[in-house]
Amino acid sequence: MPQPVEISLSVNGVPHRREVEPRLLLSDFLRHELRLTGTHVGCEHGVCGACTVLMDGEAVRSCLVFAVQADGAEVGTVEGLASPDGTLHPLQEAFRDAHGLQCGFCTPGILMSMIPFLRDQPTPDEHTIREALSGNLCRCTGYQNIVEAVQLAAQRGAAG
Ligand code: FES
Ligand code: FES
Repeated sequence: MPQPVEISLSVNGVPHRREVEPRLLLSDFLRHELRLTGTHVGCEHGVCGACTVLMDGEAVRSCLVFAVQADGAEVGTVEGLASPDGTLHPLQEAFRDAHGLQCGFCTPGILMSMIPFLRDQPTPDEHTIREALSGNLCRCTGYQNIVEAVQLAAQRGAAG
């Protein structure tokens, strides 16, 4: 059995130090060690995008990253989007207002994918939004409202 490895990382601005098995996935670390279950796990193969989190500001699939690879990183999960007083992030508000939610299983991954997308492309057209969303599978087939939610967020200047 491989020796546990000590890692230090920040998740949603909170520092954590833990000993983890080298094979532990970042998705399992977030969900099981830190109890941040907003990061969803669908395919565990990097296909569905449900497990998307931010690592040093960029969207990554946490089912394809080992926790040890996040050593020293700043990780952001969906739990970190709203303010501590419960005020939703503008992107979350746009999803609520444009009915971009159905069962919501895919939503955390989509939100975490769209944060860096809107940061890098604050005024995307519909085609670009659809392309950006193509890496996130929604089984409720609700893409129309999801696209509209991202458009609304962009119009409101929700970048970042
Ligand atoms: S669970 Fe990670 S991409 Fe599907
Ligand atoms: S809202 Fe149900 S999977 Fe996307």
